[in-house]
Amino acid sequence: MSQCMWPSSPWPSSPWPRHGGQAEALLAHFGLPVDHRLEDFSANLNPLGPPAWVSDWLTKQLAGLERYPAPDYSAARQAIAAHHQLQPEQVLLTNGGAEAIFLAAALHARKRAAIITPSFGEYARACCAHRLSVTEIALPAPHFTLDVDSLLAGLNGIEMLFLCRPNNPTATLIDLPTMEALLDHTAALGCRVVVDEAFIDMVGELPQKASLAPLLVRYPHLILLHSMTKFYTLPGLRLGYMLADTATIKAAGSHQPAWSVNHVAAELVAPLLKDGAFARRTQAWLACERPRMAQALTELGLDVVPSQACFFLIRPGTEHEITTDALFEQLLRRGILVRHSHNFAGLNGEWLRVALRDEPANRRLVNVLKKVLHDCLR
Ligand SMILES: Cc1ncc(COP(=O)(O)O)c(C=O)c1O
Repeated sequence: MSQCMWPSSPWPSSPWPRHGGQAEALLAHFGLPVDHRLEDFSANLNPLGPPAWVSDWLTKQLAGLERYPAPDYSAARQAIAAHHQLQPEQVLLTNGGAEAIFLAAALHARKRAAIITPSFGEYARACCAHRLSVTEIALPAPHFTLDVDSLLAGLNGIEMLFLCRPNNPTATLIDLPTMEALLDHTAALGCRVVVDEAFIDMVGELPQKASLAPLLVRYPHLILLHSMTKFYTLPGLRLGYMLADTATIKAAGSHQPAWSVNHVAAELVAPLLKDGAFARRTQAWLACERPRMAQALTELGLDVVPSQACFFLIRPGTEHEITTDALFEQLLRRGILVRHSHNFAGLNGEWLRVALRDEPANRRLVNVLKKVLHDCLR
């Protein structure tokens, strides 16, 4: 168990940035020019977005910047509530999924948390910021599947559990029956369960089906966190939300600064959720590209974790004589930026995360991988 230690940032003393993107430092580290052309497979964003109408819509909203946002964001919360068939009082609008993570930690300040790893590093940072002690519960490589019995055995004395569904970076999804078993046990233990659903819209079913939102009525100790930045490709805008019972939402809201979400982002929620055509196009892209890429990557001899999200966790296979770091560097030199795994607990840099992009980009990635791996076959 770690006693609220801020996870050591590999930045700037190491070349490995904390999140995806951040290409400049990597280029400098590997001696490449700043204008070296890169295709970014390191950030998990929907390549079809943002929806085409967003840009015009944004310019029309500029006048609204002269006013403070409505303090309770009621229109946005109503739209989210309707989307999930909940009450607006069960919704807290947040400045990205990242703020929702920190608010969930704030609700449990100084308590004992567990985090299922490898997973998104912000859970550990949020726990540390709010002085929670953290126990890591590791999913074993290479399949990263959850053994619910050993998880439950590790939860004694734990007051709050963070998990990500589907999980970043493994792209694995804990199935619904397992989640229900976990929620039954944690209810009995008095352990809050915080499920980050940042990538739930990328599972491939309609979001309403995949999200655990319908379970909130049965499990008041469940808190769900959402990001709208991945699905709608708006990471610069910052938009997310928390779903929970009314009392939890009220308590979380009390930790949030006033006007935390800007006016433009808040106004955008309802039209985004109304855009069914964009959601359907995204589902069609996923249904086609994800299995195609799973097969293409596997045929290269790579170890590929089966994905339920818009990215893959891969590593060189037994036939390849190349380290993961060398593969990362060769891809970078050939214009492909992928996500290293040096700061994902339990991965130790042995894996790479690659985002699913549109078909031409995905084909380019496979071709470059093929060339690099061909050069290192035993
Ligand atoms: C699992 C997970 N949750 C939350 C976030 C944060 O999302 P946002 O950009 O909406 O703050 C990310 C961002 O990468 C993520 O990977």
